[in-house]
Amino acid sequence: MCGIVGYIGKQPALPILLQGLRRLEYRGYDSAGVAILESRKQNLEYSSPVLERVRSVGRIDALDERVRQGGKLTGGTLGIAHTRWATHGWITEENAHPHTDCTGDLMLVHNGIIENYREIRARLGERHALQSKTDSEILAHLIETHYKGDLRAAVSSALQHACGTYGLAVMHRAHPDEIVAARLGSPLVIGVGDGEHFIASDATPMLPYTKRVIFLNDGEIATVFRDRLPVVNLKSAIVDKHIEELDWNDEQAQKQGYPHFMLKEIFDQPTVLKDAIRGRFNMEEGAAHLGGLNMSEDEMRAVKRVSLIACGTASYAAMVGKYAFERLAGIPAEIDVGSEFRYRDPIVDQHTLVFAVSQSGETADTLAALREAKRKGAYVRGIVNVIGSTIARESDGGTYIHAGPEIAVASTKAYTNMVAVLLLYALQFGRLRRVTVATGQRLLQAITKAPGQIETILSRGGDIERIAQKYKGIEHALYLGRGINFPVALEGSLKLKEISYIHSEAYPGGEMKHGPIALLSKNFPVVAIATQDQMYSKMCSNIEEIRSRRAPVIIVATEGDVWARELSEDVIYVPPTMELTAPLINTIPLQLLAYYMAALLGRDVDRPRNLAKSVTVE
Ligand code: F6R
Repeated sequence: MCGIVGYIGKQPALPILLQGLRRLEYRGYDSAGVAILESRKQNLEYSSPVLERVRSVGRIDALDERVRQGGKLTGGTLGIAHTRWATHGWITEENAHPHTDCTGDLMLVHNGIIENYREIRARLGERHALQSKTDSEILAHLIETHYKGDLRAAVSSALQHACGTYGLAVMHRAHPDEIVAARLGSPLVIGVGDGEHFIASDATPMLPYTKRVIFLNDGEIATVFRDRLPVVNLKSAIVDKHIEELDWNDEQAQKQGYPHFMLKEIFDQPTVLKDAIRGRFNMEEGAAHLGGLNMSEDEMRAVKRVSLIACGTASYAAMVGKYAFERLAGIPAEIDVGSEFRYRDPIVDQHTLVFAVSQSGETADTLAALREAKRKGAYVRGIVNVIGSTIARESDGGTYIHAGPEIAVASTKAYTNMVAVLLLYALQFGRLRRVTVATGQRLLQAITKAPGQIETILSRGGDIERIAQKYKGIEHALYLGRGINFPVALEGSLKLKEISYIHSEAYPGGEMKHGPIALLSKNFPVVAIATQDQMYSKMCSNIEEIRSRRAPVIIVATEGDVWARELSEDVIYVPPTMELTAPLINTIPLQLLAYYMAALLGRDVDRPRNLAKSVTVE
C-alpha cells in the first residue's frame, strides 16, 4: 500500500529511486511519480537548483518511459519518489505524488490518511490553488504556510495541525542538501550509507546498498543530510537513534530465475521453515523455548486465555494456533481479525496472552487491536516477519518468523512460518501443563520432518499444474476441511480467489449440508482436504455426498490412500504427518494449485488487482 523512496547522496538519484519503487511494487499501487533536485554547474559556479517532477498512471515502467522521453531528472543526487494506492481521489496523474505547493518549490510524498484534510482545506482558503483531490496535497500547502526558511521547522509546525496517519518525505528547492522525513502510523526506514542516506517505507529498496538502518518511531521527524540525520520529536526535542543491522540479504528479495516471486516464495519454504524453528526447541526434553516470550514460568502458568489477532492469511495461521493451544496446553484460545477485535470491546485482562500475528508487522487493524489489548492489561506478544516493524516494536516481546522478504502480495512462506512458531509456542505452554516428553518429541519430529516433506510436494508440482490446467476455466470453487484442516481450506480458498479472481469459498466439511451443498453441480468443483486424521471418515462421507451431486472433487489425501484414487481422478498426495502439523504440509499443494491456475489464466500473480501487501490504512 503506497510506497515511499528517497535518496540523498553522491550518486545519481534517479536509478536508485526507480529501482526502489520497483522493489516496493509488491505493496500494491496504481500510479507513481518521482521528483529530483539538481544543482547544475555553470562555469564552475552552481546555478540555482532545478527541481523536476514526473508522474504517471499505471506501472513503474510507464513512469520510467516518461522520464526517458522527457530526458529529465538525470543529474540530481537528491530526490523522492512514490507509488500511490488510491484512497482519496481517482487514479489520475494529478492525484499521483509527489505533490507540490503553490510555489512549486516544495515536493512531498505521503503515505497514510490525513483525516481532517477538509478542515485544513477550508482554513487554507482560496489563496491555495490545489491541483489534486488528495488529502496529501493539502499537507504540501500546509507546510508552505509554515515555511519561513527552515524546512524541518515548517514540517514540524504543519504536522501539529494534521490528524491521521503519515509517513512522509519532503524536499525543497532552497534546501539542496536535505530531505525531511516524518512518521506517524505509517512506517519509514532510513538506510545509512557512506555519505548517503536512503529513505523508504520498508527496507527492501535499500538492501542492495546497505543493511544499516534506522527505524523512525511515531512522532519523529528526521532531517536527512548526506552525512548525518538528526531526529527530533514533535516537540523538537532531540531523539537518540540507534543504527540496526538487518539480517535479510538482497538475494532473498530477487526472483532467482522463477517466473514469479510467489512461486519462488513457495519454493523457499523448506529452507525458511528451518530458519523459523532453528535453535528454538530441545528434542531431548520434547520442549520448545522461544526466548522472546519474556514470561516467567509462573506467569505462563497463570495465563487463562489466549487471544490471537491477525488479518487475512495470518488469521488462518492464527486459527491453527488456536487448535494447537487448546490441544497441547488446554488453554482456551480464540482468534479474532484485527478489525473486529479493535471495536468489539473484547474481554481481555492480565491473565490473557494476546498474540498479534503479522507478516508485515504494519497491518493497521492488527496494530490497533494490539494497542487495545495492551490498554486492557493483557500480555501482548508479536509473531512477525518484518524486522523492526511497528507491531514488532510495540509488542512487549515475541518472535520473528524468519521467512525473509516476502514480495508477492499473496502470502505463502510467512503463513508456514507463522504456523511453525505458533506450534512451538503451544508446545512451550503445553510442556508446563499436560504435554509429556514423548508427545513433545513426536510433535518436534513432525515439525523437523516437514521441510523435507514440503520438498517432496514441490517436486510433484507438475501434477498439480496438470490439475490446474484442467480446472482453470471454472468460475467457482468450494474448499472443505475439518478440524485443523478447516483453516487450511480457508487459506487455500483465499489464495485461489485473490490471485486467479475465481470465486471461491471455504467451509468446515460438516457445514456443507447446511447451505453450500445447494451450489454443487458438475461446474462447481470442490477441493476436499481429507488426509489421515481423526476427521478422515467424516470427510469421506462429505466427499461421497459431493460425488452424488456430480460435482468434481480434487482430494488432498495422504500417500497410500487408495480409496481417494477410486473416488476421484484428481488426487494430490501428501506425505503423512501428525494432525497438528498437517497445515504445514497440506497448505503447500493448495498454494501451488492457486498459483498455477492464476499463472495459466495470465493473471498478474505477484500483484493481484486491488490488493496491497502491507495494509497500513483501516
Ligand atoms: C493474503 C494476504 C493477506 C495478508 C493480510 C495480513 O495472501 O497476504 O490476507 O495476510 O493482509 O497481512 P500481515 O500478515 O502483513 O499483517
